[in-house]
Amino acid sequence: MILDYLWEWSMFAVRWLHIVTAIAWIGSSFYFIALDLGLKKAKTAPAGVLGEEWQVHGGGFYHIQKYGVAPEHMPDDLVWFKWEAYTTWLSGFALLALMYYAGAHLYLIDPTVMPLATWQAVVISLTVLSAGWVVYDQLCKRLIGLGDTAVFVVLFVFLSVVGFILTHVFSGRGAFIHVGAMTATMMAANVAMVIIPNQRVVVADLIAGRKPDPKYGKIAKQRSLHNNYLTLPVIFFFLANHYPLATSTRWSWVIIALVLVMGAVIRHFFNTKHAHHRNLVWTWVVTAALFLVIVGLSTYPLVRQMPEQEAAGVRFDPTTPAMRTLVAAESFPDAQNVILSRCSMCHARQPIWEGMVHPPLGVVLETEYDIAKEASRIARQAVLSHAMPPGNVTGMTDEERAALGRWLRDG
Ligand code: HEC
Repeated sequence: MILDYLWEWSMFAVRWLHIVTAIAWIGSSFYFIALDLGLKKAKTAPAGVLGEEWQVHGGGFYHIQKYGVAPEHMPDDLVWFKWEAYTTWLSGFALLALMYYAGAHLYLIDPTVMPLATWQAVVISLTVLSAGWVVYDQLCKRLIGLGDTAVFVVLFVFLSVVGFILTHVFSGRGAFIHVGAMTATMMAANVAMVIIPNQRVVVADLIAGRKPDPKYGKIAKQRSLHNNYLTLPVIFFFLANHYPLATSTRWSWVIIALVLVMGAVIRHFFNTKHAHHRNLVWTWVVTAALFLVIVGLSTYPLVRQMPEQEAAGVRFDPTTPAMRTLVAAESFPDAQNVILSRCSMCHARQPIWEGMVHPPLGVVLETEYDIAKEASRIARQAVLSHAMPPGNVTGMTDEERAALGRWLRDG
């Protein structure tokens, strides 16, 4: 029991850390993009200054100047922006491991999509994260001459194909989290492997009194631009895990592709706005239209094994030894009765609860397999806490919770 508490809280702690570091990274990134685009030509400025901006914030005035390549001499103090990105990636990976590797049967694997063992799912996950970076990095290097837009189109196709493949390998949540995690890995690696090393070259030149080559800044700028446009889709992919209509409906891979476009268009709106251009109405029209298409697509349910098919003999057998023990426990039938009478009206593949079109958070509690698979979450939601049923709408009694508790202890 105590381990359950520690587990739950460690996940919360890592998630907290991850959100805080991500805010720091994305916040500084948005700030610098806006600053960059808002720079005005400096009237009286040292040689090499490209533009400048005056800002007021928190009771003080700031005067920022940007150099085309670098100043004449190395400044005494230079602030680097990199730990925001690194800690976001590290905490994100820790969260992925805690939730999706340790809880692979719950979150990552869906046997109706592909009956993977935990180790297979983890190997696929690690391959996706590392191979994603290698492919992306090569694409950027080889296509840099083609111009930004062409690279973006290639990147879009690449990410959409990955989305298509992953939705046919992992659960809906698993697929979305991996499209997000792979993209976020590309973004963090852009900082660690390209942007910061290139800046180091320029700094080394300055210290040695050489004139830095502008090409390093250009390459870093390309990656920085990608990071800028990928931010909003990535946040969508991570948040989508709380919205099964996005992750677990029939056309979820098309939704992934459309989100990439939608996020980029919104980012484009802000970028253009910061650069003081007008004529942006089209970005809102496109965003709204894409959003409506996504809503429409999410109304197509997944055609997977439904309870009828199961009655007809297609069974999902409890796959792990732990699940088998849970189902074999003497107290299981009692617990199953409680769940069927208090939870399944909402937590069904096709809920019968008024107004519910999809099992909440994708949690289905119908078959033995479902119930055994969700055991630890049932413990947290209905035994350790009284979070479920929400507002106890189905009138669950303390004896019934005790029956669930007995089963979880036995199993
Ligand atoms: C009236 C409908 C309804 C009933 C009945 C109901 N739930 Fe839920 N359940 C929900 C909703 C809605 C959510 C999503 C809550 C959220 O978004 O945070 C949910 C979420 C959950 C989750 C996932 C929580 C998470 O954050 O991972 C579990 C597990 C769960 N319910 C178990 C149960 C159990 C066990 C029962 C019966 C004792 C039950 N539910 C009864 C509506 C219901």
